[in-house]
Amino acid sequence: MPTDDLLKWRAEFPIVDRTVYLVSHSLGAMPRRTRDRLAEFTDVWASRGVRAWHEGWWEMPRTVGDLIGGIIGAGSGEVIMHQNQSIAQATVLSALDWPAERNRLVTEAINFPSNLYLFHALEREGARITGVPSEDGMTVPLDQMLDAIDERTRLVSISHVVFRSGFVQDLGAIVQRAHAVGALVLVDLYQSAGTVPVDVGALQVDFATGGSVKWLCGGPGAGYLYVRRDLWPTLQPRLTGWMAHRQPFAFEDGAIAYADDAYRFLNGTPAVPALYAARSGYEIVAEIGVPAIRAKSIRQTQRLIELADAAGVPVACPRDPAVRGGTVTIEVTNGHAVVERLSREDVVVDYRPGAGIRVSPHFYTTDDELEAFFAALAAARERM
Ligand SMILES: Cc1ncc(COP(=O)(O)O)c(C=O)c1O
Repeated sequence: MPTDDLLKWRAEFPIVDRTVYLVSHSLGAMPRRTRDRLAEFTDVWASRGVRAWHEGWWEMPRTVGDLIGGIIGAGSGEVIMHQNQSIAQATVLSALDWPAERNRLVTEAINFPSNLYLFHALEREGARITGVPSEDGMTVPLDQMLDAIDERTRLVSISHVVFRSGFVQDLGAIVQRAHAVGALVLVDLYQSAGTVPVDVGALQVDFATGGSVKWLCGGPGAGYLYVRRDLWPTLQPRLTGWMAHRQPFAFEDGAIAYADDAYRFLNGTPAVPALYAARSGYEIVAEIGVPAIRAKSIRQTQRLIELADAAGVPVACPRDPAVRGGTVTIEVTNGHAVVERLSREDVVVDYRPGAGIRVSPHFYTTDDELEAFFAALAAARERM
C-alpha cells in the first residue's frame, strides 16, 4: 500500500478526529486556522474601526479572488469575490442582451437549480432556453450538447461537474464549439474547483463562477466570479452597485460609470468576515495542488465503487474516472432516513432526491474511513 502524503493535512481539520466526514461536495471540513482568521477579523474591526477599509478590507474581493485565481488558472486581478455563486451568475447574465437573432441560452437540463431559475427568468427578456436532456439523469451526451450550440446561441452555460452525479463535462470541446459559432461560455465550477483541475485561461472560458463551501473548504459567504479580461470593456452588468463605480467615493448621481477593472462586476459591500474565513481553505488547496487531490480522489472514489459493488449497492455515478468528479453516488432505499441515522453515529454523507446518497472523500480522508462508511451503512440498513 503506497503511503498517503496528503494525510498529514488531517491534523488541520478538527472534525475528522471524531467524524467519518465524507460530505465535502456539500460542506468541506473547516481548517483549524479559520478560527484564527475570524479572530483576526474581529481584532481588526475592534482596533482599527473604519480605517480597516483602506488597510485591506476594500481590496479583499480582489486579494482573496487572487487565491482562487491561482487554483483555477486565472491571472492576477481577474477573479472577484461575491457573496455566493448565484449572485455571480446573475451578474454575468445581467450584462447580456437577447436579440431575436441570437437569443438562445444552451445549458444541461440537470444544471444546478439556481442557475436554471436564473436562466428561465431571462425568458421575460427574450431569451430562449435550450436544456440538453440527460437520458440517464446522470450524464449529458456531449454530441447533443455540441449540436444544440449554433449561430443563434448567445450563451452556453454549464456546470463543469454536475452536482447530482459528479459527471465531468468536456469543457474544452464545449468552449471550442461555442466560440466557433460566436457564442460565449459561462461555467459553474462549484463542483470542480479544488477537486478536478481546471484552467480557465488555457481553455479560454469567458466567465466562470463558483463558491467556497465545498471542495475549497472556505465556508459560506464567499462566491467568486472570473471574467475574461478582454471582455471587461464590453460588459455593463445591470446587477450593479456603488462598488462597481470608477469613483465609488464620489457618490455620483445618475447612471453608473463602470470601473475599468474587475470591480465593475461588484455591487454593494462585500462579506468581509466570510472572506477572512475563506482564505485558509484556498491556501491549503493551493499548497497541496489540485492534481494531487485529484489523483487521490480518483483512487478513493474507485475504492468506494468497488465496495458498493461488493455490497450489492447500485452505483449512480459514472464508473469511468475520466468523467467522474469527486463524488460517488449510490442508490439506497429510504436514503434520507439512512443518512440521518448515519449522521447520529458521526458518519456524515448526504442524500439528494433523484440522485441518491452522495459520498465524497477529500484529501483528508483515510482509506479506512471508506470501509468504515460501508460497514456503518450495512448496520444502519439492517436496523431500519
Ligand atoms: C454546481 C453548483 N452550483 C451552485 C451551487 C450553489 O451555489 P450558491 O448557493 O453559492 O449560489 C451548488 C451547491 O449547492 C452547486 O453544487
